[in-house]
Amino acid sequence: MATIKISNEQSEVQKEVIMKLFIQFTLCLMAAVFMSACVKGPESGNTGSGAKSGGPVRIGFSMDTLKEERWQRDKELVEKRCKEVGAQCEIQVANGIDADQIKQCENFLTKGVNVLIVAPHNGQIAASIVEAAHKQGVPVISYDRLIRNSDVDLYVSHQVVKIGEMQAEYALKNAPKGNYVLIGGSPTDNNALLLRDGQMQVLKPAIDKGDIKVVSDQFAKEWKAEEALRITEDALTKTNNDIQAIVASNDGTAGGAISALPPSLVGHVVITGQDASLDAVQRIVEGKQTMTIYKPIQPLAYAAVDSAVKLAKGEKVDAKDKINNGKIDVPSLLFEPMVLDKSNVMQTAIKDGYHKLEDVYKNVPKDQWPKP
Ligand code: BGC
Repeated sequence: MATIKISNEQSEVQKEVIMKLFIQFTLCLMAAVFMSACVKGPESGNTGSGAKSGGPVRIGFSMDTLKEERWQRDKELVEKRCKEVGAQCEIQVANGIDADQIKQCENFLTKGVNVLIVAPHNGQIAASIVEAAHKQGVPVISYDRLIRNSDVDLYVSHQVVKIGEMQAEYALKNAPKGNYVLIGGSPTDNNALLLRDGQMQVLKPAIDKGDIKVVSDQFAKEWKAEEALRITEDALTKTNNDIQAIVASNDGTAGGAISALPPSLVGHVVITGQDASLDAVQRIVEGKQTMTIYKPIQPLAYAAVDSAVKLAKGEKVDAKDKINNGKIDVPSLLFEPMVLDKSNVMQTAIKDGYHKLEDVYKNVPKDQWPKP
């Protein structure tokens, strides 16, 4: 305890002034200690209601888009899992606008969510979301797409490089020689770059040998089908319709590429995809698209919610994979993708209930339907 000595010679007035100063000093000291606790508090964990105070975990799920069918599944399954585990979940969709995604995440933080799950539109720009969340002690899970150059806490996705390899392997097996068109996804999406890495690892030896020739190699802005259509039309003009394979990075771009083909080429050009969306699987059984990559969404969505709950409670998540995001090796949970083509559609997407037999074969005469 601080003490102040007051000599007998000092007047009563002097004594009073010194006492006042002492009281003021003590009050200032207490205020300073209190203020520093307020600034420091959020760094050591979100102090709002929810996980840390024993209530339900509050999750903010920030999505880039609902454009592709798969993202609607992601949304529904995240909501479903949250209900199952008693977590509160709020979902916002940025529709491809980075400023909106940042603002929506700021709102989540202001409202006091305990953890964020972010499927970023732009993997670089979303680093600022991680920074803002961490300032408030809120952990962030990067969902499906990696948030680059940040200390993001966990990455939950499929094995994206492997998907690129599978697409290229399939194309090469079915079109071992000839002209190739490569259609990547949005350049702002880290997945588009990883897919291209995987595709090139497989295609490079065949290119070097001169077996295949890449006549067009582009990325479709925002994963747009219209972009894929334009890229394919240009390649057809350039080669005088001499194309053997189109390595499209997802089903949306595969659909765009197919609509650019003259009828005589439909079914004769090997076309890859990804997502096993209903329209793509229909095209596959109708012989228009050759393959897709089937990525069951349920394990992804459930793992994200379960991990979010753990992180919010300060518990550890067991993540054995690691992916470098330019800053750190991000602990990752990466699920296995599967090749889906005409030969195994029954044993994969239909068997799992991902799609119904009658929806997939809707445009095929009933006598040609497989026996369930
Ligand atoms: C996802 C794909 C999806 C694409 C376009 C990618 O990041 O992994 O499943 O088709 O984005 O939304």
